[in-house]
Amino acid sequence: MNSNGFKFSSPRQGVVSGQSLPEDSGQEMVSLRPERLSEYIGQRETIETLKIAIEAAMLRGEALEHVLLHGPPGLGKTTLAHIIANEMGGRLVITSGPALEKGGDLIGMLTQLETGDVFFVDEIHRLSKAVEELLYPAMEDYCIDFVFDKGINARSHRFRLKQFVLVGATTRVGLLSSPLRDRFGIFRSLDFYDQPDLEQIVDRSARLLNLQMDEQGAVELARRSRGTPRIVNRLLKRVRDYAQVRCDGRISKSAVDDALKLEGVDSLGLTSLDRRYIQTIIDYYQGGPVGIEAIAATLQEETDTLVDVVEPYLLKIGLLVRTSSGRKASADAFSHLGYQVDQA
Ligand SMILES: Nc1ncnc2c1ncn2[C@@H]1O[C@H](COP(=O)(O)OP(=O)(O)OP(=O)(O)O)[C@@H](O)[C@H]1O
Ligand SMILES: [Mg+2]
Repeated sequence: MNSNGFKFSSPRQGVVSGQSLPEDSGQEMVSLRPERLSEYIGQRETIETLKIAIEAAMLRGEALEHVLLHGPPGLGKTTLAHIIANEMGGRLVITSGPALEKGGDLIGMLTQLETGDVFFVDEIHRLSKAVEELLYPAMEDYCIDFVFDKGINARSHRFRLKQFVLVGATTRVGLLSSPLRDRFGIFRSLDFYDQPDLEQIVDRSARLLNLQMDEQGAVELARRSRGTPRIVNRLLKRVRDYAQVRCDGRISKSAVDDALKLEGVDSLGLTSLDRRYIQTIIDYYQGGPVGIEAIAATLQEETDTLVDVVEPYLLKIGLLVRTSSGRKASADAFSHLGYQVDQA
């Protein structure tokens, strides 16, 4: 137990991990997705850019430029791809970098697209080189080059595609090759949501789910959701269950406090994995600096999970510092975990 009264090893990391879980594709969660730009809360600059670009493209009767969305899990990249398709009146065809193993997979999907359709490629940084190279002419000139046979008999045939919109999503824009990145006309990074936006999001979700929630309940849920709409929605559902079973069904501050204690979510919204991550830097590496591989090995977690899911928020709230020689826990991190910090 640490000073906050939470154990370090809660098995419930999933609820607040930010990563997509099967429960997120359930009917109820899907119904919480905003469907239009006008319903979208937060990320104002991104929304404004998209609004203008979509309107201009419609006026000119052209396809929208390709859109690249970057940001940690659960901030709304997939939601925005749905919204772009809705606004353009096209269909949405969804795939992901790892799913497109061979060139043939990509060709099969691209040739089915109609003018104005949105082709959404999640985890686009994980495309294979061969597939990525096929994508270049498809993005630039709406065409694709088939090559038949090999060696001396090789013939190629150029296939015209309809004017589709590629929406790429990535949690790691640094891993994208620059030729691919340069072929997107619109590139936006989504940032964590601020407190008022999250309050509005959880308020909207509570209304859609017909839940009774008071203002303090909403404030507390927003405060504990790691700046992430996916997490605020998930926590809302956990607290709803708790409130129905243990109290009168109303989502109040005390219902949120009690339910989140059971989930292992602390006062800053950190999960057991977040706390174990910081604890490892402090206990094993004297607060750092330490390389990410060493932390991952000590924690027995995947490096990618730590980099994509755990670190962005800890960096954002200043508990973690990245230096050229590795990760360091900040003074705030020490005090959050209950260590005495000497003010020099
Ligand atoms: N601006 C918003 N307003 C209300 N709800 C939102 C908003 N953005 C996202 N959400 C909610 O958060 C959930 C997660 O969003 P989404 O699936 O788009 O995240 P993502 O960025 O694609 O995550 P991942 O990287 O894991 O794929 C959605 O189900 C949606 O209900
Ligand atoms: Mg997604």
